[in-house]
Amino acid sequence: MTKTILGLSGSLRRASFNTGLLRAAAEMVPDGTKIEIGSIRDVPLYDGDLEKASGLPPAVETLQAQLNAADGVLLVTPEYNNGIPGVFKNAIDWMSRGPGLQMWAGKPVAVIGASPGGFGTMMSQAHWLPVLRTLKANFWAEGRLMVSRAGDLFDGDGNLTDTGSRERLAAFIDGFTKVI
Ligand code: FNR
Repeated sequence: MTKTILGLSGSLRRASFNTGLLRAAAEMVPDGTKIEIGSIRDVPLYDGDLEKASGLPPAVETLQAQLNAADGVLLVTPEYNNGIPGVFKNAIDWMSRGPGLQMWAGKPVAVIGASPGGFGTMMSQAHWLPVLRTLKANFWAEGRLMVSRAGDLFDGDGNLTDTGSRERLAAFIDGFTKVI
């Protein structure tokens, strides 16, 4: 049976390096596994009053259904001010509401990211750790992928063109696929 990884990028930018990294991962996933790319674009800002009045927004229900059906999750995170971008954290916070908390528990989760700087999202990746621990997710720590100097490795549309980076990504995805 085909295994499914839910892939989420934390950037809304058209030519995002992180969304491009996720697309590249989806292209090179081994046989028997697929990466389903989810979208955080339509997730509203978390508002407890909205949740009380209307329940979970449709975009969150879609993401939760994808999460529930997935054998693992790949978070592709940008780094803003040495931390997790607010839009990404906001989406995961919504996804933890209602039935979502149970869906995260025990779910294998891997984190990668790309940035134009020299540290390749090292800090934001680290900032996901207490979040994933709180969600009781099963964080995959064996592999590590920080794509630095992204401006040299992606084309103008955010496609990962650098051969060495594609090889490192393939090895990461292969390793993660083996544990889900
Ligand atoms: C950034 N950027 C950034 N990069 C980094 O490596 N460390 C950082 O702390 C920050 N801080 C930061 C703050 C804010 C508010 C912005 C908008 C950007 C640069 C960031 O990595 C760059 O914009 C990437 O291109 C964002 O990822 P996407 O959109 O290409 O996926």
